[in-house]
Amino acid sequence: LGQTIHYVESCPSTQIIAHQLAQEGTPDGTIVLTEEQTAGRGRLARKWDSAAKKGIWMSVVLRPDVVPQKAPQFTLVAAVAVVRAIEEVTGLKPEIKWPNDILIKGKKSTGILTELQSDADGIQALIIGIGLNVNQSLQDFPEELQDIATSLSIESGKLVNRQELVRALLSHLEIYTDLYIETGFGMLKILWESYSSTIGKTVRARMAKETLTGIAEGITEDGVLQLRTADGKLHGIYSADIEMTN
Ligand code: BTN
Repeated sequence: LGQTIHYVESCPSTQIIAHQLAQEGTPDGTIVLTEEQTAGRGRLARKWDSAAKKGIWMSVVLRPDVVPQKAPQFTLVAAVAVVRAIEEVTGLKPEIKWPNDILIKGKKSTGILTELQSDADGIQALIIGIGLNVNQSLQDFPEELQDIATSLSIESGKLVNRQELVRALLSHLEIYTDLYIETGFGMLKILWESYSSTIGKTVRARMAKETLTGIAEGITEDGVLQLRTADGKLHGIYSADIEMTN
C-alpha cells in the first residue's frame, strides 16, 4: 500500500482522481493525496469542507479479490486504521460512530467515504476516501460546522505533523487490510466494536423514510448496524444518520 502515491497541490476531489486512475488500471494500494479540495465530497451527497494545508485529504484505491457484499467491511477496516493512527501520533482517544465517523469528545474529526468502481465483470476497485481534520482552528470551519466538527489540533492543543500522520495512517491501513485479507473479519469486528461510541447505547437512526430508536447491539459481518427497538424486534440498519439519545 502506498507504492504509488499521486500528490497534487489542489484538486476538486481526490475521489475523482482516484476513480480516473483506477479506470486506467492503477495498481492496488495507490494513494491520491492533496493539500486542498475545491469540491470535496462526503457521504449522502454532502459537501466535505477541505481547508488548504490543514488536513489530510486522501483516497486509497484497493483492488481486493472480494465478492461485492464484503466490500463495506473495508470501510470498517479503514476506520480502525484511522483510529489507531490518531492514537499513535497524538495520544488522543478517538471513537467510531457508525458507520464511519471518527469522533473526538463527541465531535467529528474524520469522515470516510467508500465508493465502488464496477463494470460488467464486477467490482474493479474500491475507492476509500479519508478526510481528516488536523490543524484547523475552530474559526477555520464554516459556522454551521463549528458545533459538530473538530480537529486534532483543537483537541490536543498543539499543531500535529501531517507528514508523520500520513505515514502512520498508511502503515496502519496496510496492517489492517492485510490482517483482514489473511484472517477475515472476526478480529477487526472486535476492534471496531471496541472503538465504537454507538454500540451498547440507545440511539436514534434517521433513515430516508423512517426514524427508529433502540439499542445498538452490534454490527454484522457486513457492517450492518443491529438495532433492537422497544418492542424487542431487531432491525438491520444499512444507511442512516445516528444520534445518541442521552
Ligand atoms: C463523510 O463523512 O461524509 C465522508 C467524508 C470523506 C471526505 C474525504 S476527503 C478525501 C476524499 N475526497 C473527497 O472528495 N472526499 C473524501
